[in-house]
Amino acid sequence: MDYLQINGGKKLSGSVTISGAKNAALPIIAATILSDKEVTLTNLPNVVDIRTLLKLLTMLGGTVAHDNTVAHINNGTITSTKAVYEIVSQMRASILVLGPLLARFGECEVSLPGGCAIGQRPIDLHLKALESMGAKIEIKGGYVHAMAPDGLKGAKIIFDKITVGGTENIVMAAALAHGTTTIVNAAKEPEVVQLCEMIADAGVKIEGIGSNELSIEGTGGKPLDFKTVDIIPDRIEAGTYLCAGAITNSSITLHKVDHGHIRASIDKLESMGCTFDLQEESITIYPAKELKPVNLITIEYPGFPTDMQAQFMAVAVMAEGESLIEERLFENRFMHVSELNRLGADIWLKGSTAAVKGVEKLYGADVMATDLRASSALVLAALVAEGTTNVRRIYHLDRGYDDLEGKLAALGADIVRKKG
Ligand code: EPZ
Repeated sequence: MDYLQINGGKKLSGSVTISGAKNAALPIIAATILSDKEVTLTNLPNVVDIRTLLKLLTMLGGTVAHDNTVAHINNGTITSTKAVYEIVSQMRASILVLGPLLARFGECEVSLPGGCAIGQRPIDLHLKALESMGAKIEIKGGYVHAMAPDGLKGAKIIFDKITVGGTENIVMAAALAHGTTTIVNAAKEPEVVQLCEMIADAGVKIEGIGSNELSIEGTGGKPLDFKTVDIIPDRIEAGTYLCAGAITNSSITLHKVDHGHIRASIDKLESMGCTFDLQEESITIYPAKELKPVNLITIEYPGFPTDMQAQFMAVAVMAEGESLIEERLFENRFMHVSELNRLGADIWLKGSTAAVKGVEKLYGADVMATDLRASSALVLAALVAEGTTNVRRIYHLDRGYDDLEGKLAALGADIVRKKG
């Protein structure tokens, strides 16, 4: 299995170009199922999760031509509506095909995703909402079997909890439903916004885009004809590189970013003493003279993102004083704590809060990546740890970071991918 070997202590400099957002691209790829014509997607990140979802489309009979950042997808050729365990077990986001498959074909089977390293992550809210739209749902043999032979019907859906994937699934289902669907307590993450804009650009009337209440007028079963979609920049990748600048006390520039989407990370880094120069599509971070501790709580957009919690914890480890980090979205998203402590961090967990006492130094060690963002936190810590750190199980990183080691090496980090 590949691992990353990092010799810490190098200053970073120069610039890095941010890739397209994995979490925007995944629902957009799923949404192509709503069309029976060719759809072109550009600025896709070159990561495993994207290839996995494209493979699922080809397994359903869709036609996919994918080359690095561009995909031409034609789902006019779909012959099967069964998303098999083999793919769904590799990537939970495969559940995003449930809404569009059901809406377009009136029936589908999607394997239940099962457990996950960061929490239980049930899909009950997706299923309840589809039932409100008239779907009959059975769970059998590890599969969700959803049926709506006469098509889905518009409904008023009030989510008990804000769910990104749930909102995306229902927006896609509602796009081909009969009548109007209202989603109250909808997610408004930039990735949800781009999905809504893609569907609205195809002629579906959607009100409330970017707010917590969406209203979608379905086409009554008529497939959509999408324009080319250029995937938005990855706000979590951008935030991770800002953290790389902060932790290594370096000034680096990020190109192809949307500042509005990373405001929460910028604000927290400012409170830690970093400063920024914002240009139209780029941002430069200047390191803090003295890194101050930070208090943060993860919450839905535009609040501080759970997907940046682990990386900020790595930065907090090097701050002067005690930081408090509370995780409110997932019940088990602290797997990086014990690995950071193996590098010499001083982090204590109490319930959903981590108390991070800043330390003077970290020391290289062998550590294990446990999920995507936890892995990037370990890489950040390794950039400043004295000596050599081997970050193992990096298949997690490959799922969501486009060429992390290449981009960090270009910034001056001593990082190589090794086999063994
Ligand atoms: C998306 O996951 C992202 N994944 C996650 O990014 C991100 O951490 C998360 O949103 C929160 O921002 C993709 O976009 C592909 P949720 P999702 O439904 O949609 C609970 C990464 O590292 N819930 O908003 O699965 C759930 O358990 C990944 O890139 C239910 O209880 O997240 C969680 O506590 C990890 N029932 C909360 O809601 C449901 O039916 C928010 O989850 C659905 C969700």
